[in-house]
Amino acid sequence: MFRTLTLSAVAALGLATAGHAAGAYDTHIEDFDFSFEGPFGAYDQNQLQRGLQVYTEICSACHGLKFVPIRSLSEEGGPSMPEDQVRAYAEQFEVYDAADDDFRAARPSDYFPESGLETAPDLSLMAKARAGFHGPYGLGINQFFKGIGGPEYIASLLTGYTGEEKEEAGVTLYENKAFPGGWLSMAPPLYGEDVEYADGHENDLHHLSEDVAAFLMWTAEPKMMARKQAGFVGVVFLTLLSVLLYLTNKRLWAPVKGKETL
Ligand code: HEC
Repeated sequence: MFRTLTLSAVAALGLATAGHAAGAYDTHIEDFDFSFEGPFGAYDQNQLQRGLQVYTEICSACHGLKFVPIRSLSEEGGPSMPEDQVRAYAEQFEVYDAADDDFRAARPSDYFPESGLETAPDLSLMAKARAGFHGPYGLGINQFFKGIGGPEYIASLLTGYTGEEKEEAGVTLYENKAFPGGWLSMAPPLYGEDVEYADGHENDLHHLSEDVAAFLMWTAEPKMMARKQAGFVGVVFLTLLSVLLYLTNKRLWAPVKGKETL
């Protein structure tokens, strides 16, 4: 009886593992070293500005950032652009003004436009939405050691095209190693050297992807640095409080404990 039970359990386990392996497309997410990883990591202001440039020149043709206020580009902790630059930047977008019932150039107080292409998702929160738990058995261990997965996923997606394409129901699909399922309808948006950086920074495919992914992490979590700082202050405060409480406790119980040892 026990033998049969054990055998069927082993068989069931084998089947489950085989099914799991067959069902999951083998996606490959590369581990990028972002400056904002770890408890003291911070956004690199220059990288965010470069990422903004990639987004503006390439991605904004299809994707929107409708939850991001343009004025936040000048906020501390973000790209920190001077306000006059942000004002000039805003003017390239057209927004609909309900008060005038007309279109006008955007101002810093407006939000980035929505996606221009209906099938292209809004990218404001994409870095958080795709923050997968790439750990063994879904434990999220890798997220702890290698950083939140969202920007890694985006950068891997941009560098993960294999060059294969196919047509399905009139839509061209492109094979990608990072995309779950392996095929998506976004043509490779970057090839390397698509954008000229003013600071002369490297603009190969790897760096362009990394920069725009970092920028999209900032749009999804603009207050990350303030949050980490508040967390650090909290931990220091709690440590101090624990020490004080421990000493107080010892002092309060000293007479009672003292008797016991006598
Ligand atoms: C020509 C239009 C176009 C351009 C340019 C473009 N995309 Fe896309 N993007 C799409 C479409 C369409 C999809 C939906 C693909 C799908 O789900 O099959 C998409 C999907 C995505 C996704 C979501 C993938 C997922 O997991 O669902 C991300 C991230 C993304 N794009 C990032 C970018 C970035 C970053 C850029 C700029 C470097 C960019 N895209 C440029 C059309 C575009």
